[in-house]
Amino acid sequence: MNEGVHQIDDQGRLRHFLTIEGLGRDWLIRILDTAESFSGVAEQSIKKVPLLRGRTIVNLFFEPSTRTRTTFELAAKRLSADVLNINVSTSATTKGETLLDTLRNIEAMHVDMFVVRHADSGAAHFIARHVAPGISVINAGDGRHAHPTQALLDLFTIRRAKGDDFGRLRVAIVGDIEHSRVARAQIHALNSLNTGEIRVVAPRTLLPAAADSLGVHLFHDLNEGIRDADVIIMLRLQRERMQGALLPSEHEYFRLYGLTEERLRLARPDVVVMHPGPINRGVEMDSRVADGAHSLILQQVSHGIAVRMAVMSLAMQVAAPEAPV
Ligand code: NCD
Repeated sequence: MNEGVHQIDDQGRLRHFLTIEGLGRDWLIRILDTAESFSGVAEQSIKKVPLLRGRTIVNLFFEPSTRTRTTFELAAKRLSADVLNINVSTSATTKGETLLDTLRNIEAMHVDMFVVRHADSGAAHFIARHVAPGISVINAGDGRHAHPTQALLDLFTIRRAKGDDFGRLRVAIVGDIEHSRVARAQIHALNSLNTGEIRVVAPRTLLPAAADSLGVHLFHDLNEGIRDADVIIMLRLQRERMQGALLPSEHEYFRLYGLTEERLRLARPDVVVMHPGPINRGVEMDSRVADGAHSLILQQVSHGIAVRMAVMSLAMQVAAPEAPV
């Protein structure tokens, strides 16, 4: 998927942020630490730092999004960048040349960064391969391939809750793994940080064919899969990506794979529950769990802003430790 695109340039600087794969532990830690240094900005009365003043960032969204787009937008604004939101409705034929055309037109406006979401796997890489030198591309989710800033905000949330020794953690990722760019990115990220045990819990129809090679333990039974877990990450049933009948019914899915308060007792007493959103209440989890004491779902959203500020400022080469944060 990386054909010809380097995320890190010759001088070891972050140029694009497209996937967790190949980035390595040191970069992940560096981004998380940078995000930590930005997390206080939200608590200031003036929620802004001048790091990206004069830079123009384009949110180029070919797929609907609320959380991801708005948190990228707020992150850019809190860094004092100018932000342009472009929501392009896409059809099967709006690819290739049309995508390039869109790109060339926006490039002509002298922008500095594209934040790209697209229904096709590989779209962000495609754009990164074709942008003018000096423009950075951030992947905000491509098809079922990758969603690296989501994985990082999840790591950030876990680290805040559990400390930085991922080696002691048992993390269970539950649900529609097959269609989830989030799950793929999380698995790469958790592996990079040497997480003690990564479990994937899903019905057979929602597991990718290559699940065995992901470096995880597979479970088909939810009770077994979450037993003694420190972290449970629930994923949405991504019906828009499903072809054919992969599931009996939502009711049946909830019966087998829905997280309830009763089931949560099988996990560790201090377990934390996460979900990238949007949640289908009563399908992936009971509302009492989503809104309960173990849930970090809203913290994930807040952390998304700090993590996206970190990625954007590093890609614009302004988040060096000596930078005036
Ligand atoms: C995820 C996505 O879009 O991949 N959501 C998100 O970024 N907040 C997961 C999902 O849509 O279920």
